Amino acid sequence: MSTTKSVAPLPEFPQFTIVPQTPQIIALMTIMRDRKTSRGDFVFYADRLFRLLMEEGLSHLPFTKKVITTPTNVAYEGLEFGSQLCGVSIIRAGESMENALRQIAPHVRIGKILIQRKEDGSGTSQHYYTKVPKDIASRTVLLLDPMLATGGSVCCAISELLKLGVPEDRILFLNMIAAPEGVKNVLTKHPKIKIVSIALDDCLNDQKYILPGIGDFGDRYFGTDVTSDEPESSTASS
Ligand code: PRP
Ligand code: URA
Repeated sequence: MSTTKSVAPLPEFPQFTIVPQTPQIIALMTIMRDRKTSRGDFVFYADRLFRLLMEEGLSHLPFTKKVITTPTNVAYEGLEFGSQLCGVSIIRAGESMENALRQIAPHVRIGKILIQRKEDGSGTSQHYYTKVPKDIASRTVLLLDPMLATGGSVCCAISELLKLGVPEDRILFLNMIAAPEGVKNVLTKHPKIKIVSIALDDCLNDQKYILPGIGDFGDRYFGTDVTSDEPESSTASS
């Protein structure tokens, strides 16, 4: 049951949706996209957007009917979540989404998959490491990575999950920005997964960066962008 109406902007891929494009979402994304945004603001507003994305993502999970009795002694037929969850973040940038997931599901188990996208513009990615709960095959997996560019990294992660016995239709990939090339690549290879994004951008450039995009998410969020000349506060610089 969804209280907001998410949009499926690529008609051939109804498994791909973006959150409702409210003025608030567009304003927050404008801050994220602005090259002048400080790292502190980038982190703050990314965290806010991830929280909204998590709430929207939950609406796409399976629900089952549940009848309870209210304090006025009336039977109420509602819903409850239909399966146990597990978050899996793609290191490094996906780790930035873990707190937002914990805010809506405090006891959630979180696994990690380390994938590195080659920075040579080839769009190829390599898998290095996986650590997930032993019973992951019986859970619904929320796969976390803010950027879907070529789709190479997330396809690597999905292959690892499939090897571990997670059914494709139990994977929900949550991200901030998707490129159409990436959505098509992922959903052609894995038609049963669902993808929920905050924004669908226009295309990729020659270096496989998303346009208009936000640049390198991990570098901006974690402060590893060497071109940054932003002053650090004394408490934050240790
Ligand atoms: C970024 C991003 C995705 C990937 C997306 O990670 O977080 O994992 O690129 O690109 P793709 O769809 O073309 O694979 P990156 O490998 O740059 O590492 P980072 O998390 O350390 O920034
Ligand atoms: N990874 C990023 O962080 N940004 C892009 O535009 C593409 C991949």
